[in-house]
Amino acid sequence: MAANAKQPAVITTVSGFDPTPPALQPASTTTTTTAPLPVTPPQRKVKVRTTLPFSPLPPLATRQPLETERLRLVPITQDLLPDYHWIRTQPEYMVNSRQGRPDRDLAETQKWMDRFVPPGDQHTYTFAIKMKKEPSAAAAAAEGEEAAFESRAIGMMGIVRMNRGTGWPEIGYGINNTHHGRGYATELLREVLKFWWSLPREEVVVEMDAKYVFGTAEDGDGGHAADKADGIVVDMPERVMAIADVTNLPSLRVMEKVGFTQFASFVFEDDDPPLPVVASWLLRPA
Ligand SMILES: CC(C)(COP(=O)(O)OP(=O)(O)OC[C@H]1O[C@@H](n2cnc3c(N)ncnc32)[C@H](O)[C@@H]1OP(=O)(O)O)[C@@H](O)C(=O)NCCC(=O)NCCS
Repeated sequence: MAANAKQPAVITTVSGFDPTPPALQPASTTTTTTAPLPVTPPQRKVKVRTTLPFSPLPPLATRQPLETERLRLVPITQDLLPDYHWIRTQPEYMVNSRQGRPDRDLAETQKWMDRFVPPGDQHTYTFAIKMKKEPSAAAAAAEGEEAAFESRAIGMMGIVRMNRGTGWPEIGYGINNTHHGRGYATELLREVLKFWWSLPREEVVVEMDAKYVFGTAEDGDGGHAADKADGIVVDMPERVMAIADVTNLPSLRVMEKVGFTQFASFVFEDDDPPLPVVASWLLRPA
C-alpha cells in the first residue's frame, strides 16, 4: 500500500516549528560508546508531509549506469553474486555492518542481494561500484588478482531502504578494504545523491518514528515536539538519512565531507549485541 494512501482528515502544520534539531556533537576520535545514549521509543509515530520519488522505484532493468571521475556505478544485478560473496566474507569489511560478521555461505549473500534485485528493486536503488578501467585479457593474465579487481564489483552504494512508515530513505555504502582511503566513497556519494535528487517525485504524507523527525539531541525539542505533533502533520523538506555504528569513523567522516548533519543517536536494541548508532541526514537541495 502506498504510504500516502491513508491521509488524515485534517492536515495542520506546526506553525513556527523548526523540525531541525541542534546538531549532535561530532564523533570523537578518542571516545565512543561510554556515555548512555538516549533512546526514543520506536513506537512513537509522527506524520510528515514531504516529497519522495514515486513508488515503486523505477525497475532495475531500466536503470542507467553513472560515472564519476575514477569509477563506474552500475545497477546491482544477480550475476554479481560471486563478487559480493567475496566482499561480504571478509571480516574487516563486515565488522561495521548491522550483521557484524561475514556471510556464512552463498545463500546468506543471496539473501542480502534479494533486497536489491527484482522484486526488491521496487523499494531500493543501489549500484555496484566498479573501476573505470577494464583490464585487457593480457593484463589480466599478467597481473592476475590485481587486474581482476578492475572488472569486479569493489563495493556498493545507494538507497538501501525507502523506510516509508519508519523514516527517511536510507543511503548505504561499502567498499572493499583493498580500495579504502582513496576518496572513492566521498566521490561516489556526491554522484549518487545528485542522481537521487533528480528522480521525479510526488508529495506524500508518511508516518515516521519520532526520532527521525525530531532527533534525539538532549537540548532539542524531542519529546515535547512529538507531543505537539500528535495527530497533526509536520511539513519537512525531503532528505535522506544514513545510519552508522558510532565507532565507524571513516563512514561518519564521509558523511561529514558530503554535508550530512548528525541528528540522532540511539541503539538498535534488536541487534546482537545491541548496536549504538548515529543517524545523519542531508536535505534535498531546493
Ligand atoms: C566507510 C567507507 C565506505 C569509506 O570508504 P573510503 O573510500 O575509504 O572513504 P573516503 O576515502 O572517501 O573517506 C574516508 C575518510 O575517513 C577518514 N578516516 C579513515 N579512517 C579513519 C579513522 N580511523 N578515524 C577517523 N577518520 C578516518 C579518512 O582519512 C577520510 O577522510 P579525509 O578525506 O578527511 O582524510 C569504507 O571504510 C567501508 O566500506 N567500510 C566498510 C563498510 C562500512 O562501514 N560501510 C558504511 C556503513 S554506515
